[in-house]
Amino acid sequence: MDIFVTQPVPPAGLEIICRACPGCRVNAEERVLAHDELLEFVKGADGILALLTDRIDADVLDAAGAQLRIVANMAVGYDNVDVQAATRRGIMVTNTPGVLTDATADHAWALLFAVARRVPESEKYLRAGKFRGWGPLLFLGGGVTGRTLGIVGAGRIGSAVAMKSRGFNMRILYTAGSPKPQLEAVTGARRVGLEELLRESDFVSLHVPLLPDTVHLMCADTLRLMKPTAYLINTGRGPLVDEVALTDALKNGVIAGAALDVFEHEPAVHPELLQLENVVLTPHTASATIESRSKMAVMAAENLIAGLAGEKPPNLVNPQTRG
Ligand code: DGY
Repeated sequence: MDIFVTQPVPPAGLEIICRACPGCRVNAEERVLAHDELLEFVKGADGILALLTDRIDADVLDAAGAQLRIVANMAVGYDNVDVQAATRRGIMVTNTPGVLTDATADHAWALLFAVARRVPESEKYLRAGKFRGWGPLLFLGGGVTGRTLGIVGAGRIGSAVAMKSRGFNMRILYTAGSPKPQLEAVTGARRVGLEELLRESDFVSLHVPLLPDTVHLMCADTLRLMKPTAYLINTGRGPLVDEVALTDALKNGVIAGAALDVFEHEPAVHPELLQLENVVLTPHTASATIESRSKMAVMAAENLIAGLAGEKPPNLVNPQTRG
């Protein structure tokens, strides 16, 4: 059995793989493999443990060879994998839902507060030695308590973000394919259409998956629906937001600010965003807690080993491959 792991992952996951397959191959470098390197490295693999930064397309699946049985993605999102191409070839694809929900939702809150209360901007000012004492107009920001939080996509992570608002006495609006009775019962949340959510929210947090119809969900037109005092938070996927339109909106006061953990052309960031003060940027680290990354690695490893042992992996996203 040949397993290829595209980058070192937390040890708890690697141990599971190495125990089951002592000859497993792990790319030792902590960097994203170029596509042609990936094509080379996957040759002969029965299973691949991939990261969200690896583009697993039909070429990679074919380069691996006809023996490839499973691609275990160490992420809840799997838009980096051509699932249709995998399914056509009978290759299982798995993801890691649940174990990063709280970490990601916590980070959405960290971003929300950071941008509303201008934390990075004011910290930079202080470190630069510019602080001359308390000032009545110094770094005024947006309040959070009692405001309206709009959750675009109340799945696991979106719902967790909403649940965590309880200490802040917020009004919650959400979009979702179906009503979320528990969320509504606990937080008083109301399911609305996207337009109403954007018009009414003081904070808009994005949690829909990246699909053809969610690319540029936030574009010039939808950003214009938001209040000029509102903030946009994105811990989902970068291409949900048109970064050119967002940059214009931030420069022209269409919205008050944005906090982004993910980028349209990751790892590149629109250069003008880097210059703006009313935006907070983190390097796709929303799930980066020690516990959560370790659990993601274990889950991906367990999916991989189950699939290779002929069992149904617990987090199979294309069950059609099981006949
Ligand atoms: C995921 O799992 O999809 C996250 O983006 C990782 O942080």
